[in-house]
Amino acid sequence: MITEVGSNLEKAIELLEKGEIVAIPTETVYGLAANGTNEHAIQKIFDAKERPISNPLILHFPNYESILPYVVHFPEDLRKLAMIFWPGPLTVLLKKSELVPNLITANQDLVAVRIPSHPITLKLLSHLKFPLAAPSANLYGKISPTKSEHVFNQLKSKIPYILEGGECTKGLESTIVGIDHEKVTVYRLGSISLETIEDILGYKTSIFNYVDAAPKASGMVKHHYAPSTPLFFIDSAEKIDTSTSSGFIFFNNDFLNVANKVILSQLGNLEEAARKLYNTLHMMDSKGFKKIYVERFPEKGLGKTINDRLKRATLKF
Ligand code: TXA
Ligand code: MG
Repeated sequence: MITEVGSNLEKAIELLEKGEIVAIPTETVYGLAANGTNEHAIQKIFDAKERPISNPLILHFPNYESILPYVVHFPEDLRKLAMIFWPGPLTVLLKKSELVPNLITANQDLVAVRIPSHPITLKLLSHLKFPLAAPSANLYGKISPTKSEHVFNQLKSKIPYILEGGECTKGLESTIVGIDHEKVTVYRLGSISLETIEDILGYKTSIFNYVDAAPKASGMVKHHYAPSTPLFFIDSAEKIDTSTSSGFIFFNNDFLNVANKVILSQLGNLEEAARKLYNTLHMMDSKGFKKIYVERFPEKGLGKTINDRLKRATLKF
């Protein structure tokens, strides 16, 4: 199959209506989309990504009203967050209605829903009569794509079309929240920081899927988001090879004075670092280094999300 990259919305609509899969841009990362009500189309996502079907998918909608037929209940605190952050990088776990295929939820009774804020994808969603199931458009366990070329490199010849939407503005996946004992619980740290959510709610949330805890959702595996090149935290590596065969990723300052490096944010801005992180990992991974070393981030705001992803990525090695 030839994989085309372009900005032809009609073509994306036609393919999705026919039950094909299409990569789409979102503000977080690129997604690999299919008609979320068509099991045959959804299966193609799992096949292309080589993802186990035990890992449930997020349904993407154009607006609040379009979600309601797919869920049976929207708890107050989750609705409050949704009203503030949608369209945007928040995913909410809700009790599903019978309209949601079991293949979406891995047979669980909760479905993950989100309204993304990328203008092209919002337009696409508003032209469709069904929601889009879309996991990140990478091969299972690999780094999520934040540019169309990242999708192309991993999925070329497996999918017919990549809808071009430029570089993702957030660069980290959505924050996933659900409800447990009437309080909001965070199931995946993401583009919206814990502090932001807790400020709005006025209470501390519990975190279920933090990398140090046992994974709850079957799909939330520990090893993930990993480059092919061995990746290590600078502060926990046994011995640091500072030669030219290593690549280094720093937050705001190269304190080792090495040759091959990327400084994610000279000004120490966590949003900027988050936006550039996956792109930098993709780039470093393509350079043929023997090892990549990365600085651990401050445990606050998006630094927590970045550390969560890096912990998973380094655990593989
Ligand atoms: O930012 C994002 O959320 C991106 C864009 C494309 O929207 N999507 C994304 O999807 O990151 P994915 O499939 O790579 O990650 C979704 C996570 C998975 O870890 C999955 O286990 C969890 O959401 N998830 C989905 N449905 C769930 C459910 N019903 N219960 C628990 N976890 C669920
Ligand atoms: Mg993913």
